[in-house]
Amino acid sequence: MASSFASPSLPPGPRGPAASLRMFRDFSRCPPKQCRVALDRYGDVVSFELFGARVVVVGDPQIAGEIMQDKDDAFSKDWVTRGLKLFLGEGLLTSEGELWKRQRKLIAPSLTKKQIAAYADTMVACTKQWLETRQAGETHDIHEEMTEVTLDIVVKTLFGTDMGTGHADVGHAMDRVMSDFQEVVQTWRQFFPEWVPFAARRRTVKTARALDRVLYGIIKKRREGSEAGDDLLSRLLAARDDAGGRMSDEQLRDEAITLFVAGHETTANALSFAFLLLAEHPDVDAKMHAEVSRVLGGRDATSADVASLPYLDAVLRETLRLRPPAHIFGREALRDVTFGRYLLPKRSTVLISPWALHHDARFFPDPYAFRPERWLDGSTSSLPKHAYLPFGGGARVCIGNHFAMMEAALVLATAAARFRFERTSSEPVDLQAAVTLRPRGALGLRAVRR
Ligand code: HEM
Repeated sequence: MASSFASPSLPPGPRGPAASLRMFRDFSRCPPKQCRVALDRYGDVVSFELFGARVVVVGDPQIAGEIMQDKDDAFSKDWVTRGLKLFLGEGLLTSEGELWKRQRKLIAPSLTKKQIAAYADTMVACTKQWLETRQAGETHDIHEEMTEVTLDIVVKTLFGTDMGTGHADVGHAMDRVMSDFQEVVQTWRQFFPEWVPFAARRRTVKTARALDRVLYGIIKKRREGSEAGDDLLSRLLAARDDAGGRMSDEQLRDEAITLFVAGHETTANALSFAFLLLAEHPDVDAKMHAEVSRVLGGRDATSADVASLPYLDAVLRETLRLRPPAHIFGREALRDVTFGRYLLPKRSTVLISPWALHHDARFFPDPYAFRPERWLDGSTSSLPKHAYLPFGGGARVCIGNHFAMMEAALVLATAAARFRFERTSSEPVDLQAAVTLRPRGALGLRAVRR
């Protein structure tokens, strides 16, 4: 009986400077894999100290759910996400409290399944444009290609297709800001305060300012224009809150950049991994192709077709399980919080890793195997809530999840109708767990005409 009255204590984990240093070394190599290793060793919640800061890794879906939903007022976003404010400003990903609530309410109606159906044609057109550059027998880096295709899609759906030739420039400037930022957060530079002017930080600010000038120009033109477009920016311009208020130019800029950054690299990585896994599993590829051929019969895919492609959907779900682009995300405890017998002290950094949860054999038998069938044979139908969370969960669940799933399905279906891809190397593909999970180095795939 005594144990039920015991006061909550820190979750178990490595203790002492040597163990902490080892943890830091392993975490730096691959944070999500190390989360899984630590959870297997110590239990569903693990805590350790890193340079004086308390880190808690959560591998229990129920506790993850409480952090993301029921007790979310006790947590803010973590320091890595806060660092993104340098160029994302106060967009949806980084804002908190009342501002976030108002903005989420304003933006969510533009990203429902019904609303985004209007972007299907652009998604298919961008994919076809890419495929026209592909010759059977040639090998190209699929990650680079998916980065370009998804860049084309995000810029055209955000700003409209009538932007002239500026699409690629805006997109590449946004990408440059993001990669400079990653250079800061992934290296020793992360341990220095924000005012230390590293070259990458100075570049980030300079590129962000140049980008601002372009974005404010687009916003001004849209405000002056008489016709309301169907692109996301036009929808955000038209959005009104309960009191009839609209977003300021600064807020629009922050939200536009946020949608770009949150949606571009994640979707590019998901698609690259999907093509890779299909190349490594020709039997799965053949089944998916048979479904695509039967449903499309040679015509272009539409938004309505997505619901008729259950096997392709299972391929995508399984890809996001094995290779979740958002492999880890964090929160910071604003006060002491307890979960049963565990205490999470104020200021702890809490890490929830979709990668670690998705590789838990209790929920996904044979967790390292690529088996889309698990999404069709009933074996995942009674999963605990939040055991599968490629798009996060709770109040701050990904607002672009329908957009991402439709985009990935349309790109995959359009490509599958024309080519299959095969690997040209038998070397295993190394992963890089940066802000997003992506293949390390070039990922060459050879196109074979169907
Ligand atoms: C496969 C692609 C994608 C993945 C894996 C992904 C994953 C995630 C995850 C895990 C979160 C929650 C982060 C947290 O709780 O801290 C998130 C948030 C967010 N995502 Fe996505 N995302 C994807 C695509 C997109 C797209 C296409 C867009 C935009 C069109 C987008 C916009 C956002 C935004 C704005 C947030 C912040 C939402 C809020 O806090 O209210 N994402 N995403």
